[in-house]
Amino acid sequence: MEVKILGTAAGGGLPQWNCNCPNCQAVRASSAGVCWLNQSSIAVRANNQPWFLVNASPDVRQQLELLRDGKPVSIRSSPIAGILLTDAEIDHTTGLILLRESSEPLRVYGTDTVRIALTEGFPLLSTLAGYCGVKWSLLEPGIPINLGLDAANQLEVEAFPLAAKPPKYMRHKAVADEVWVVGFTFRASGKVMTYAPGLAQLDDTVLERFESSDCILIDGTCWQDDELVSLGIANRKAREMGHLPLSGAEGSIQHLAQLRHPRKILVHINNTNPILMANSQERQVVEKAGIEVGDDGLTIEL
Ligand code: MLT
Ligand code: MN
Ligand code: ZN
Repeated sequence: MEVKILGTAAGGGLPQWNCNCPNCQAVRASSAGVCWLNQSSIAVRANNQPWFLVNASPDVRQQLELLRDGKPVSIRSSPIAGILLTDAEIDHTTGLILLRESSEPLRVYGTDTVRIALTEGFPLLSTLAGYCGVKWSLLEPGIPINLGLDAANQLEVEAFPLAAKPPKYMRHKAVADEVWVVGFTFRASGKVMTYAPGLAQLDDTVLERFESSDCILIDGTCWQDDELVSLGIANRKAREMGHLPLSGAEGSIQHLAQLRHPRKILVHINNTNPILMANSQERQVVEKAGIEVGDDGLTIEL
């Protein structure tokens, strides 16, 4: 299995257009130790078969160029066989509209809550119907499906529930305890990779899933719970946004540090997060815990 990080930053990217936080300013000043990052997305493939895009960010156009290899065989071709969505957040779905030039209906995989959100709240699916169209495949948490072309090229994906936080645009329609955010576990040739860019809490079930993975790509949105509040950027804490902070007594680092088996890489990192600065103390804490900070273009072979 091959996994490529196409975007390491959370929504807004680094720098974010309207942000003057220390990291965003440092990138604009081309300071050492911090560089431009695309918005959160990865691609996965097995046996050199076509890639699957996981989440379609507003940066999808540049991101798909990272997947081009080999000589094209026809005048139009797509580097991806389909798109999987962990949730219906704007930063994870807006890229779909940018793929409207597709010569075939887009193959999109997601849960029913995501499909409904993208039909009723942020109607990308109905809009795309007037362009290339969408072929929707339902992903039900706990029920793996094979994305591979045939039995010899298995690439299994299993969705698992992560959070009940609806996108802001669906808040008025959300029902209590509905699953709005899932993670994905991919399995191919005996190797396992788990992707969880929206981690609201870490319970034993999720920790066991992480421990039995060979690599995990996990939510690194905020260093501390009140990161955006203390910078005067927002009034919601990280936890209220469905993202467990990294530091602190109940933060994710202390749990992740105890996992022995998987390679651990942080993704979906907000531009305010001090771990993005290579020489920061916070970055050292993460690295001492045996956890890596993701990077755009990083490829993981399993
Ligand atoms: C998230 O990561 O929780 C969302 O991207 C937040 C948002 O888009 O408002
Ligand atoms: Mn996000
Ligand atoms: Zn910023």
